[in-house]
Amino acid sequence: MGINSTGLRPGQGSGEGDHRSGAAISAGVVEALSAITLRCVVCSALYPMIEGGQPCPPRYRCDCGGVLDVEMKPQFPEQREPVRDRDEVELLDISGDNAPAAGAAWRQLFDERVAGPPIWSISSDRLLLNYSGVWRYRELILPAPERSIVSRPEGNTGLYPVGIENCGDGRIGHRQIGVYAGLERFFLKHEGENPTGSFKDRGMTVGVTMAQMLGAKAVACASTGNTSASLASYAAQAGMRGIVFLPAGNVAGGKLAQSLAYGATTVQIEGDFDAAMRLVEQVCDELGIYLLNSLNPFRVEGQKAIGFEILQQFDWQAPDWLVLPAGNLGNTSAIGKAFRQAYQLSLISHMPRIAAIQAEGANPFYRSFAQGFARYESVHARTVASAIKIGNPVSYERARRVIEESDGVVEQVSDEEILAAKAVIDRAGIGCEPASAATLAGVRRLVARGIIKRDEQVVGVLTGNLLKDGKTGIPQEASGSVIPPTLDAVRKVLAS
Ligand code: F0G
Repeated sequence: MGINSTGLRPGQGSGEGDHRSGAAISAGVVEALSAITLRCVVCSALYPMIEGGQPCPPRYRCDCGGVLDVEMKPQFPEQREPVRDRDEVELLDISGDNAPAAGAAWRQLFDERVAGPPIWSISSDRLLLNYSGVWRYRELILPAPERSIVSRPEGNTGLYPVGIENCGDGRIGHRQIGVYAGLERFFLKHEGENPTGSFKDRGMTVGVTMAQMLGAKAVACASTGNTSASLASYAAQAGMRGIVFLPAGNVAGGKLAQSLAYGATTVQIEGDFDAAMRLVEQVCDELGIYLLNSLNPFRVEGQKAIGFEILQQFDWQAPDWLVLPAGNLGNTSAIGKAFRQAYQLSLISHMPRIAAIQAEGANPFYRSFAQGFARYESVHARTVASAIKIGNPVSYERARRVIEESDGVVEQVSDEEILAAKAVIDRAGIGCEPASAATLAGVRRLVARGIIKRDEQVVGVLTGNLLKDGKTGIPQEASGSVIPPTLDAVRKVLAS
């Protein structure tokens, strides 16, 4: 498979001369990419996106092997959208005393974009972009030409008040989650309400948009199931070939079904996620396919929108804690970066602390944290939560920075704790897939240890939908109870 079928020249990183895509790239794309630089998270080396007026070949790592981070100065849209007051634009110098005013202008911009009709209309791309919980924040994510954007749209997910004090009379069934966690003011942000049922859609809309901008015809990822489902959907929408590498026997049924149904080339490999990840990096490099794991820094940029949306739902008052499950560490990196940027732009006045929760059997980040990040060793991963069954997370360096700068913590929870927490979330009527329940299990542990205080305001992220995995941690026997259609039989069932 070469340039004709994938759109990108093979051999990136192999040092074989000119690897540029032959596809014509529009002036709008060149302008957008000119504003972006990639910086190595390990050695700080810089890589431009454009050289000699042409896009550079896709790059996912520094020459030193470190992962890359997107650097871009957010441009306030003074030309494209009405700004009420000229002074406001001048106040967008975010240095020194001007910082709070700049924050106010950004807050107003983003709030105006949600003030429109709640039902998006495909007849208007602008409405669609403002409705997307990712592209609403486009100046902070990717300055893509509007024509290139591939969006379902995504985001706008529920933020459920589930604390003992804040759950409200109409949600009394949700209170049991707060009781289980031991928190007065607790919220669950349900990213399983995204178009393909997981938070991955937020990164994928940006990743596939970048693939579109670069003229890629094929995109690929390794996955424990959710990234692949998301990639398959967005690639299909963009008319690209989707190729997904899955650890055979370790992907929940709903996720595998999605990849197949959306028409991706689904390759199951002998080996675990970490082996699939190594393979896909090699495949993309050699065959010129655009890589869409969170190794790709633009995926991380999209997932930042989870953080922005939470802050907006809180009317830009940052919570005390953000807690989430951690596997490949892309999401920890993304949400941490969002809070850092929101703080730098004065959208918020303090950064929430971040708690990343790992499964005990897939805990390299936890082990490293426990040693003050002095050492890092990969593990052979084992856990019932297949989504986070990852032993060698790609975004370790990015996530480590997030934990350090947010005064955060990394916790581990057992499979039993994950399943118990999942049952609590499911029975409350909210539901989630097993990996997501690590959030609640982790919160409960951190409250019990006194690290999270009972009266602190905490947001937990539920990363995937209940329907992704219809087996793990769900009573299977109920589906077998068939009764005759009589009142008596019903009485017996209800009495038992
Ligand atoms: N929760 C769910 C439901 C996931 O699918 C994943 C990752 C995570 C949490 C962990 O997020 O990797 O950013 O630390 N799933 C990836 C996948 C690995 O392939 O779908 P992370």
